[in-house]
Amino acid sequence: MGSIRPWAVPIVLLLSSSLGACGRGRPDTEWPRFVERNGRHALIVDGAPFLILGAQANNSSNYPSALDDVWPAIERLHANTLEIPVAWEQLEPAEGQFDFAYVDELLRQARAHDIRLVLLWFATWKNTAPHYAPSWVKLDNARFPRIIGKDGRIHDALSPLFQETLDADRRAFRELMRHLRAVDGDRRTVIMVQVENEPGVYGSVRDYSPTAEALFAGAVPDALTAALGGRSGTWTGVFGEDADEFFHAWHVARFIGQVAADGREEYPLPMYANAALRDPVRDQDPMSYASGGPTWNVIEIYKAAAPALAVLAPDMYARDHATAVAHFARYNRKDNPLLIVEIGNDAEFARFFFHVFGNNGVGFSPFGMDFTGYANFPLGAREVNPQALEPFAVLFEAFAPVARDWARISFEHPTWGVAKPDDNAMQTVALGRWTATVRYDQWEFGRSEWTWLPQEPSPLLDRESGGAMIAELGEDEYLVFAQNARIEFALQDSAAANGVIFDRVEEGHFTAGEWVMDRVWNGDQTDYGLNFTARPRLLRVTLATY
Ligand code: DGJ
Repeated sequence: MGSIRPWAVPIVLLLSSSLGACGRGRPDTEWPRFVERNGRHALIVDGAPFLILGAQANNSSNYPSALDDVWPAIERLHANTLEIPVAWEQLEPAEGQFDFAYVDELLRQARAHDIRLVLLWFATWKNTAPHYAPSWVKLDNARFPRIIGKDGRIHDALSPLFQETLDADRRAFRELMRHLRAVDGDRRTVIMVQVENEPGVYGSVRDYSPTAEALFAGAVPDALTAALGGRSGTWTGVFGEDADEFFHAWHVARFIGQVAADGREEYPLPMYANAALRDPVRDQDPMSYASGGPTWNVIEIYKAAAPALAVLAPDMYARDHATAVAHFARYNRKDNPLLIVEIGNDAEFARFFFHVFGNNGVGFSPFGMDFTGYANFPLGAREVNPQALEPFAVLFEAFAPVARDWARISFEHPTWGVAKPDDNAMQTVALGRWTATVRYDQWEFGRSEWTWLPQEPSPLLDRESGGAMIAELGEDEYLVFAQNARIEFALQDSAAANGVIFDRVEEGHFTAGEWVMDRVWNGDQTDYGLNFTARPRLLRVTLATY
């Protein structure tokens, strides 16, 4: 078959039209960055769209002594990116004295393993607390004040309202980014940086210190009023019962946005903030989650306050399908690429791989993926060993060779993705003039309604895995990557033809952006729909009518 690269030309045009000097003589496009067009997103790495098939190490794996337990897991997973912390306490143990030994060793080892890095700047907020800040910060309440609750209680979380805290954090972050540019600007081992970790405060909606109270009594900043297109006035006057939370979100976002902006002045890598989540559907009292973090109800506030952040990323620990999918939808926006930097590492989370990458997501990284012996059940797996990695590894291994191609296609073409629902129900996806139905209750051969052939329930019913992602290449042509699912196609307008057949179903891969057919599926492999087994496969499907 000939080339199927209708997308190649537009990408080249897009990249060359945005070539530009970016200080110090280096073309902007050489550094990673996000691009958006027609609501579709791509993370550009080395000049082309890239997908993060990632893994996040455990929280305390950010030392050379732990790295030996990290790489075997990353390799076993077939990940292309490791997300790993850099703690403020290890970077600047004494004020003004910086130690880059760990960062340099991490870079050296990552390059040796041919793995990209996303660095997690654990500083003023780590799951809201300042525990990763150096002692000279986290123990000095006078200089770096903590949040004071409504009842006068002092909380662990630092307040975002104090200049000394902001200045100390951003000075250290600048040092990190300056160093990274010097030692990695030409290699781009590090492709992105997370600024803080799950910021906000638990158990109070905001800071109620005298400083905070004075600010809260004042007017909503013009920048926020303008961004929201609303009326001006006091926080309470404009936002009513949301005023406390929105006030805190604005100030936390401004703080993180300024840290990110300073860092980007040194080295303009893409930056993002991650969120501990709020219920995606039902109303929830901000006292019961990390108030002020980038929860879905304050995304507009973050976008206005922190333009240096390219992405707000939801940390996904919801196991049930409906809740997880609702969370994804909240963060998958024209102004926000879907980037999953944390997802539970238990087997049932692996199916969401299909949902994320099928819906133009740019990264998928299970959390706690190393062999340091720690497992974060009930958020993730009970035990992290080679066997526990398998549900993710099988997907990453099959998808890695085509991930760049999928990234390019999903930036240019409509795509869809579904993960197996908890009740095994059939899913129907509308694709142009076709529909695809995805079922998780079928054997590979035959039909469940055949009463003349004694049958048992399909083993797929009990499997935790399964899903499908589909890209439209042309009116009747689709790419399908799936696992443990049966996919059937029909015309949306069933009266438009006598019947529907596969013209051709090719299993294959891409080489240098060109489709290469490995074999043609036909007969039992297609007569009952496309039956994907536990071995994920990529198919190029041409549909026809008779
Ligand atoms: C979310 C945080 O962002 C991670 O750093 C980690 O604490 C996990 N929760 C759970 O272990």
